[in-house]
Amino acid sequence: MKHLIAPSILAANFANLSQDIQLLHESDADWIHVDVMDGQFVPNISFGFPVLKAIKPLTDKIMDVHLMIERPEQFIEQFAEAGADIITVHYEATNHLHRVLQQIKATGAKAGVALNPHTSVKLLSDVLEDIDLVCLMSVNPGFGGQKFIYNTLKKVRDLKEEITTRNLATKIEIDGGVGMQNAEVLLQAGADVLVAGSAIFKADNPKDMISRLKNIGIEKIL
Ligand code: DX5
Ligand code: ZN
Repeated sequence: MKHLIAPSILAANFANLSQDIQLLHESDADWIHVDVMDGQFVPNISFGFPVLKAIKPLTDKIMDVHLMIERPEQFIEQFAEAGADIITVHYEATNHLHRVLQQIKATGAKAGVALNPHTSVKLLSDVLEDIDLVCLMSVNPGFGGQKFIYNTLKKVRDLKEEITTRNLATKIEIDGGVGMQNAEVLLQAGADVLVAGSAIFKADNPKDMISRLKNIGIEKIL
């Protein structure tokens, strides 16, 4: 299957968010990546339910909600009600990952697990069947515009091998420091979904940048 592009609205213009959502709506983006931060799990605060609720009716793109919050089990139903189609929690933020994954699925949303750069993909082995999406953080979560950590490539390869061997449908998403400079090597390593914030919103033409990221691979064949 062709890879997916999930622009992160953390890098959008919050003073005119509807305009940026409209841009994404008209673009080749597959998902909209929504970064929720609580100032506890990560040293930053972004936005929460009201913002998700406000943007949801503006597009039919899939809302890919990345919860960088402690004890996400407290808020799963509220995020689903606010419009999340995929809810990703951090492995490091809960003591009961298996239970949270069931909780997410009970809402009808797809269940994702994010791993910080230091967390081994091996730790997901016993719960991989229950995960729709693994989000590999390629920066330390909390801020956009950081430098890509290259050890992520090894994690993508290892995880892809396990998913393939076990014949699972789990998708691999890469989040942080992704752009034209590393997208191709990430896709070759086995990534299915690329999140990009600054690379898209700081580009002269964000819509064109989304198309370029989406069309990687096609160019090779033509
Ligand atoms: C980081 C967030 C990312 C961030 C990516 O904590 O999870 O989704 O918005 O931004 P860039 O693409 O600028 O690294
Ligand atoms: Zn994110």
